[in-house]
Amino acid sequence: MPENIVILTGAGLSAESGLGTFRDKDGLWTQYDLEEVATPEGFARNPTLVQDFYNARRANCRAATPNAAHHALARLARDYPGTVTLVTQNIDDMLERALRDASCTSDVIHMHGELARALCNACGHRWDAPAEMHADDPCPACGRAATRPDVVWFGEIPYHMEAIDTALSRATLFAAIGTSGEVYPAAGFVQIAREMGAHTVELNLDPSANVHIFDETRPGPATQTVPAWVNALLA
Ligand code: APR
Repeated sequence: MPENIVILTGAGLSAESGLGTFRDKDGLWTQYDLEEVATPEGFARNPTLVQDFYNARRANCRAATPNAAHHALARLARDYPGTVTLVTQNIDDMLERALRDASCTSDVIHMHGELARALCNACGHRWDAPAEMHADDPCPACGRAATRPDVVWFGEIPYHMEAIDTALSRATLFAAIGTSGEVYPAAGFVQIAREMGAHTVELNLDPSANVHIFDETRPGPATQTVPAWVNALLA
């Protein structure tokens, strides 16, 4: 059993929970203009459009449930405490819910933020987001109407990069699950892990943009590939 596993997940991990991916044929970026709903400039232009986009995703998330891939990752984190670092590009809470179901207290590093959290652009206060957020909601701390979803938009700096870099520097096994490998810095993690001597594996429905960098690939839907992979690790 490898002693330090770093697992990067993307939208494909939650696809079979009914939560949309971005770049697949019917993905979110085929339905919405990302410049309008996932950039600070888009938010400044039309905060109501952006809040409504995330309100709809928050409602979808509340109606969704973790799938077999989330539960398999929770089992791995539970059975090998302190060994597994879960890094996600996703803003849903499926992994947290699977970890709770597994009575596992492991954290999930949300490098692109979380739908469940809100942020005040004026004072930096963060709090649990309500089901629906509106452009003129006052910040609970400073009272100013400068609230936004606590998610990382294009052109903004991902969260927790120091913790992620530390985990990658110690990785003996790196897995990427359900991500197209199109967005940096996440898409660059596999190269860092390789340089640190880690074995690298991609578990994806279709080959990602950086599939050629991985030592091993396990193609297929996450609800099939991830439980099989975890069972092999725990055997
Ligand atoms: N099982 C496994 N993989 C799947 C499944 C599935 N059921 N369904 C889709 N996939 C794969 C696709 O083949 C694709 O490679 O998941 C990947 C999803 O890619 P994207 O839609 O680009 O999502 P992601 O890689 O998470 O995007 C990264 O881009 O838009 C930004 O901030 C957003 O965090 C997101 C980032």
